[in-house]
Amino acid sequence: MSTIDTNMFEPESAILPLLKGTAIDGMAAYEALVKKAQTDRLGFWERLAREHLTWRRPFTKVLDDSNAPFFKWFDDGTLNASYNCLDRHLQDGNADKVAIVFEADDGNVTTITYRQLLARVCRLANALHERGIGLGDRVMIYLPMSIEGVVAMQACARIGALHSVVFGGFSAKSLHERMVDVGAVAVITADEQMRGGRNLPLKSIVDEALTMGGTDDVHTVVVYRRTGGSILWNATRDCWLHEIEAAQPDTCEPEWVSAEHPLFILYTSGSTGTPKGVQHSTAGYLLWTSVTMKWTFDIRSDDVFWCTADIGWITGHSYICYGPTAIGATQVIFEGVPTYPNAGRFWEMIAQHKVSIFYTAPTAIRSLIKASESDKTVHPRRFDLRSLRLLGTVGEPINPSAWEWYAREVGDGRCPVLDTFWQTETGGHMIAPLPGATPLVPGSCTLPLPGIEAAIVDETGVELPNGQGGLLVVKKPWPSMLRTIWGNPERFRHGYYPPELGGNLYLAGDGAIRDPETGYFTITGRIDDVLNVSGHRMGTMEIESALASNPLVAEAAVVGRPDETIGEAIVAFVVLKGPRPTDAEAKKIADQLRAWVGKEIGPIAKPKEIRFGDSMPKTRSGKVVRRLLRSVAKGEAVAQDMSTVENPAVLHQFSEHV
Ligand code: WT7
Repeated sequence: MSTIDTNMFEPESAILPLLKGTAIDGMAAYEALVKKAQTDRLGFWERLAREHLTWRRPFTKVLDDSNAPFFKWFDDGTLNASYNCLDRHLQDGNADKVAIVFEADDGNVTTITYRQLLARVCRLANALHERGIGLGDRVMIYLPMSIEGVVAMQACARIGALHSVVFGGFSAKSLHERMVDVGAVAVITADEQMRGGRNLPLKSIVDEALTMGGTDDVHTVVVYRRTGGSILWNATRDCWLHEIEAAQPDTCEPEWVSAEHPLFILYTSGSTGTPKGVQHSTAGYLLWTSVTMKWTFDIRSDDVFWCTADIGWITGHSYICYGPTAIGATQVIFEGVPTYPNAGRFWEMIAQHKVSIFYTAPTAIRSLIKASESDKTVHPRRFDLRSLRLLGTVGEPINPSAWEWYAREVGDGRCPVLDTFWQTETGGHMIAPLPGATPLVPGSCTLPLPGIEAAIVDETGVELPNGQGGLLVVKKPWPSMLRTIWGNPERFRHGYYPPELGGNLYLAGDGAIRDPETGYFTITGRIDDVLNVSGHRMGTMEIESALASNPLVAEAAVVGRPDETIGEAIVAFVVLKGPRPTDAEAKKIADQLRAWVGKEIGPIAKPKEIRFGDSMPKTRSGKVVRRLLRSVAKGEAVAQDMSTVENPAVLHQFSEHV
């Protein structure tokens, strides 16, 4: 056990050493690949797709861009994702390699080999088939972090059904909304989940969602028995996972699907309207999750990989369910939360499972920094973290001081810290350092991966010189990009290929700036009304509509306030139908409204602060002045130009909060 010395890490040594002998070894190798991708784009992607994926029928055409931006990749090839993630490893001598080390909330550890994982996937796939579920059907997955989560997703992939995973922190209403939009025929869930020592309901939330109407097509609910807690049972619809698995053989011929067959739909928040179902393809998506496992994470056969994300988000899809399995890695899956039973849990698990590649979110790092400041026993230096060789972050900008702490206190100055920028829509990493090539700079996700042509443009689509901030775009299609928004192709075209930019640039929705000398990218945050709360994407509009649907509320506006730990905190400005509450009433109503949002969307969307006013500050043309509300939320003096604001006095009321 070493002592804590917070002065040992000088800022200049923040430029960490690079690894030797990595998949892309050195800057020259990186540049050569970038060049190759630029000069022979199709050849570049073709070679990767032949090398990394096992095809049933090889493709003859790389890219079909005749109906841009609805691109098709490797379209006439056929394959199966679960075959690529599982069966392949039984043939390459890795059948008995551990695929997953699962650590439960209570510390109980279970492992499963590739052979065993394949058998479970086949059993469930057969059982789903027997219930009439097959090619193109949609299956909702509402499960805790578990081996079963991966089994469920892979079983869908095996029979060509599309999964749509909903994070366990979403409410019945959110689940229902997604279920209806996607047209689900089945749900795979658990009786309950365990997080931080508490049992939380899942099955009863599914039951509730299924009473809300429009879900008559849902004929099957598969229930994984996690806690044994009591649940209601519908004998015609519900079945136990262990029972249906036990009744099936452990082999199942995969459904060979076209490269472009949708692999899954994952809902995410946009700036307007309801959540959108981001649709990913089979081949292009799987290709990039495997390639980035190699390039960004330099994964090797003896690595132990741990991504702490939930399978309910894209990070859990790409870097738990698909990437690590496609590449045949051993990975850790964790059921619980980083602070239970104490904030040393992550470090203890790294030590116990000898994790060599660790991938987490800046929010988690910042909260663990805080915790280790007040309780030295949970400081990472108290644990044996020598197994680590690579550290990654994702989900939101990481501030240089958190980056440096991660590098110094967790990585001991030995492990490259990879700040990976990407999105639900991009399928895998877009801008990220390569651990053997890219000199690291805290606060920058550095350079685009080979094949990814990222740029910064102004509002008319004109590329800006380095040093000038603008809109982050991607100039050329890439295989793992989203294919469309489920059921709403126009929303896809307009939202991601906006006509104002010329219609041929992918708009990420983030602002960015490049360093004048190195060309390194720094992401400056969303340019739309999307908040990033603890690395979770939330639309301000969704929260506003949830608040506005409460009978007490006349009007609501939601903004983000920069927050040291969680990135952005949700601040809601509310005008009640009745008079503005007194201080004593305000707290009670605020609590009620928070609970309401928890019910409407989920606990993750509950506003941190709710402020009340007599009216909403608006321009004379009736637009809510969010710019001013953002300043008010930050506690800034509102001495700005108010000549256009109809009712400036209300801003003073909104300066107070409960
Ligand atoms: C948004 C995408 C990608 C998996 C998790 C989030 C922000 C993501 C970074 C990063 C700065 C980042 C962006 C992006 N973001 N990674 N390394 N640095 N910002 O996926 O829910 O689709 O959110 O997260 O704002 O647009 P998501």
